[in-house]
Amino acid sequence: MRTHERQRMTDSPERSASVGELVLSLRGISKNFGAVSALTDIDFDVHAGEVVALVGDNGAGKSTLVKILAGVHQPSSGTINFRGKAVTMPDPRAALTLGIATVFQDLALCENLDVVANIFLGNEVSPLRLDEVAMEMRAWTLLNELSARIPSVREAVASLSGGQRQTVAIARSLLLEPKLILLDEPTAALGVAQTAEVLNLIDRVRARGLGVVMISHNMEDVRAVADRIVVLRLGRNNGVLEPDASNQDLVSAITGASNNAVSRRAERLKVERDRADSGQAGEQHP
Ligand SMILES: Nc1ncnc2c1ncn2[C@@H]1O[C@H](COP(=O)(O)OP(=O)(O)OP(=O)(O)O)[C@@H](O)[C@H]1O
Ligand SMILES: [Mg+2]
Repeated sequence: MRTHERQRMTDSPERSASVGELVLSLRGISKNFGAVSALTDIDFDVHAGEVVALVGDNGAGKSTLVKILAGVHQPSSGTINFRGKAVTMPDPRAALTLGIATVFQDLALCENLDVVANIFLGNEVSPLRLDEVAMEMRAWTLLNELSARIPSVREAVASLSGGQRQTVAIARSLLLEPKLILLDEPTAALGVAQTAEVLNLIDRVRARGLGVVMISHNMEDVRAVADRIVVLRLGRNNGVLEPDASNQDLVSAITGASNNAVSRRAERLKVERDRADSGQAGEQHP
């Protein structure tokens, strides 16, 4: 029931219909923290107008991958291509300038400041920075484009709901008109209605032609909004699934259980082959 509700709310004609050019392409990305291999030889692609869900168990390397793309960590090896060019992101500002925006799980909003101030917070590069009226108009435009339900942009963030805060954080990340947006657990700790609202928001970000990477542990949310599901396990690629993949296949890819789609298919084919063989044998000797 909940799945259906969410799917209906977030299904849109854009879904998987208008996937554009390759925005991001990682090849052979590894990251070591001393003796710990957090990521090994990761390949990862995101297209314009596509939502890619990044899933995996705790410690699979999802946040590490996002932090590399956000310029927080440097890869130990491998290449990052962004919009057709090999790039490096020595710091978070470099990632933002290239057009990669990240909404971290803690959102990093200032409770006592209003929505406008939060949207412009830290965006020193904005030429509108000191013009209060222009900032307010820009904030309204952004939120309206996202059909966001924020009562007033002069409301302090402290008085907003979890879903509204997530909306403000996403709106803020769109300020510099990125090409790729990374969302770390955007629906964690949200109720059903607020989750649906944030998933709708993700739909609209995709409809603007952005590439979206969403980390989530919630398979319902992933299925409701993702065009592709990329699985990491123990720091390695462990499969790419369609959003309509069975739960069993998804769980197998995440946990590495041996009873997965590939092994079951091989088993079924073997049984069918054996049956056909014995059938033929029967025909020869009626
Ligand atoms: N700064 C760090 N120093 C040392 N090890 C780290 C560091 N950051 C991550 N790791 C290790 O890298 C591995 C991957 O961690 P990461 O946080 O990327 O996992 P995750 O998939 O985001 O997990 P979760 O779902 O729990 O958030 C883990 O073994 C973790 O302990
Ligand atoms: Mg994490």
